[in-house]
Amino acid sequence: MVVRLAVVLALLLGVLVGEHSGAAPLARGYNGLAGTPPMGWNDYNAYGLDVTEELVRETADTMVASGLRDAGYRYVTIDDGWMAATRDAHGKLRPDPARFPHGIAALAAYVHARGLKLGIYEDAGVHTCGGLPGSLGHERDDAALFAAWGVDYLKYDNCYAGPGCADHSCPDGAEVPARDRYARMRDALLASGRPIVFSICSWGTGDVARWAAGYGNLWRTTGDITATYASLVSIFHQTVGLGGYAGPGGWNDPDMLEVGNGMTALEDRTELTLWAALAAPLVIGTDLVHARSETIAALTNPGVIAIDQDPLGRPARLVSATNGLDVLSRPLADGDTAVVLFNETDTAATITTPSPGHTATDVWTGAVATANGEIRANVPAHGAMLFRVRP
Ligand code: GLA
Repeated sequence: MVVRLAVVLALLLGVLVGEHSGAAPLARGYNGLAGTPPMGWNDYNAYGLDVTEELVRETADTMVASGLRDAGYRYVTIDDGWMAATRDAHGKLRPDPARFPHGIAALAAYVHARGLKLGIYEDAGVHTCGGLPGSLGHERDDAALFAAWGVDYLKYDNCYAGPGCADHSCPDGAEVPARDRYARMRDALLASGRPIVFSICSWGTGDVARWAAGYGNLWRTTGDITATYASLVSIFHQTVGLGGYAGPGGWNDPDMLEVGNGMTALEDRTELTLWAALAAPLVIGTDLVHARSETIAALTNPGVIAIDQDPLGRPARLVSATNGLDVLSRPLADGDTAVVLFNETDTAATITTPSPGHTATDVWTGAVATANGEIRANVPAHGAMLFRVRP
């Protein structure tokens, strides 16, 4: 009887979860999307509000030519700054005519023709952070418009979170609760009938990781990243304890990558290593058209991407942390374990940890070593070594 009930429940769940995707049932995820962390590009870290359709087209072309698309980077996302200052006479959002003279639907078609997907930005408040029209109170219309344009991904920000609120703060009682605002857009996107990945950008406020799995496919865990090692370390610490809330369909988002934006090559690799361990979305935030080959090579490392995208979807947990020397471990779908030795400090140091397996492959160098009961390495200052350990 108990068994039969369980089977019926499982079938029901399978139907509900599979509804949108046709893919294998996901362990979590309210819309069947983002079974692994989304990968793509977003203009904001490199361009701020200065986005144009030409930039998006050139970037899409570069993603194809450089192999980034084939490495898994699929979503090309237009951040804040794409809209005209006001809605039209019917209350519809419209793109800035100078920046997007051919409109968003044409751009979506361009991107789709290259095997990529289009993301766009809006805000769950009265204005976007850049002061353009927000979606609060317009959720159904805006979601339907995005779907009609062919948008595949929505990054949904949290500025001006109620009438009378400032960009990042509200007077007492003025904020419309975040959960309500994000639920309204979630429901509007579902009602639009188009599969649209929903990215919650509320900067880690209000314990968002605790509730967001039923509301979005990814949720920011912190304020905005900057292209500094200090920012990377701070965001890592704010995110690493939240792994239990994430899994297939819903991911912690420690913000977009700063790889290529001015940190050292080693720090760039450290960011990729940590983000892969955390099962974070990999959203490139650099000027790809002029990116150096070293940057492209780091971003396309297949071993790093495989760990980030591992289908088990279990983010790493901290095994030990002693005076800025951290060990992280993440189980993988094939029985391997990903192990990270991260030296946060400003001097090289040896880090040692019991080995979960027999052979350890250094994912960045390809070197294979027998792990005789332990993994030990001299890790440079600001470096993170990534091992794939076989039982
Ligand atoms: C907020 C977000 C950023 C970016 C800007 C755009 O700061 O957190 O990621 O979208 O708004 O104005």
